[in-house]
Amino acid sequence: MSADSSSINTAHRTQSSPAIENAIDRSAPTFTAAIEKDETTYFDTNPPPPELEEFSRIAEEFVNLHCSHQRRVVLVTSGGTTVPLENQTVRFIDNFSAGTRGATSAEYFLEAGYAVIFLHRQFSLLPYSRHYSHSTNCFLDFLAEAPTDGSSRNTIVARDEYAAEMISVLRKYKHAKREKLLLLLPFTTITSYLFLLRELAMKMRPLGGKSLFYLAAAVSDFFVPRERMAEHKIQSGEFAEKDGEMEFVNPAGPGSGKKLIIDLDPVPKFLKRLVESWAPDSMIVSFKLETDPKLLIKKCKMALRRYSHHLVIGNLLQTRKYEVVFVDQESTHWLRLPQDTEEKTNSVGKFAGRHDPEIEALIVPEVVRRHGALIWHVVAATRSS
Ligand code: PMT
Repeated sequence: MSADSSSINTAHRTQSSPAIENAIDRSAPTFTAAIEKDETTYFDTNPPPPELEEFSRIAEEFVNLHCSHQRRVVLVTSGGTTVPLENQTVRFIDNFSAGTRGATSAEYFLEAGYAVIFLHRQFSLLPYSRHYSHSTNCFLDFLAEAPTDGSSRNTIVARDEYAAEMISVLRKYKHAKREKLLLLLPFTTITSYLFLLRELAMKMRPLGGKSLFYLAAAVSDFFVPRERMAEHKIQSGEFAEKDGEMEFVNPAGPGSGKKLIIDLDPVPKFLKRLVESWAPDSMIVSFKLETDPKLLIKKCKMALRRYSHHLVIGNLLQTRKYEVVFVDQESTHWLRLPQDTEEKTNSVGKFAGRHDPEIEALIVPEVVRRHGALIWHVVAATRSS
């Protein structure tokens, strides 16, 4: 089920609620959408990830299986991409995304009958295991030693108060695994993410309109191109050999005037290539993250105009777990979690059996409904022509 099964239970989290003032600097200029030449240049000058071929083969098998069952398939991208500063990477630039949106949404897509390709940042949250893998939600806290039955065997069980929810998660997880409904493919760097996105889009083509792209990953906007990347660990000062020993000749330190200046290039905006060339028959949903409420809807509309895809889901860093805005060619529509218990109880069972209501329980059914309408529309148009 997993191309990297070791990533399943070792989730490690980064800080997902950074101080707003330290978050994203959007004062940088905006860049135009990528054209074919940018695609060729980028993919010719940056190395593909070593796992590309293997993932491509696994994805092809997955798509063929679900194509034969006439099933809809969604590619969910999740977590943040890294920007390595050195080829033999010691340091890299990262972002805040823990992969909550992607991992949670994947579960709701599975519930809605989709097969899911989960292209995720390695060690970010995964569907199902996310319930027990957060560092403040350690899986050991859910377990207890069973009373001994007189024999010397030790048995571990789920604690009573968690058992009902755990068994429900476990059953869904086992079902997805048994039916081969979930394919986990990890990435780390921006370059491997982009290579994999393009490859998976090509492999999903046989699905036609039954394929959906749900791009929740936080994709780096800037990177160090291969030709400017240091091969080895960047040193903090200059050193030379003296009497057979290595010595710093100009050590970096406060007041030394030494600085590390990182010169980053913009990452081509490949969403346009995805829409026009890699996956022209698919429904494409992108996310837009902002920190300034005044900018959010404007930026969503700008993305729609630029990339001509189906839907932008806007969210603010501060409130992304409680509200999002759906922006398409015709309308702007907010989805919000109910505020109080009464509202929650009346919300037609959407949150039934769940401790904490999740905004994805509202987002995913709405995306699924729109995908269904699009499929229907295309079928109707084909019949009448
Ligand atoms: O993981 P969580 O903690 O739950 O957080 C979820 C989230 C906030 C990260 C998620 O909901 C979200 O908003 N994801 C998109 C964030 C983002 O990268 O926004 P952006 O403005 O950089 O990119 C917008 C779109 O442009 C994306 O769909 C991306 O695929 C596309 N893009 C971005 C960079 C690039 N070089 N090319 C692109 O095509």
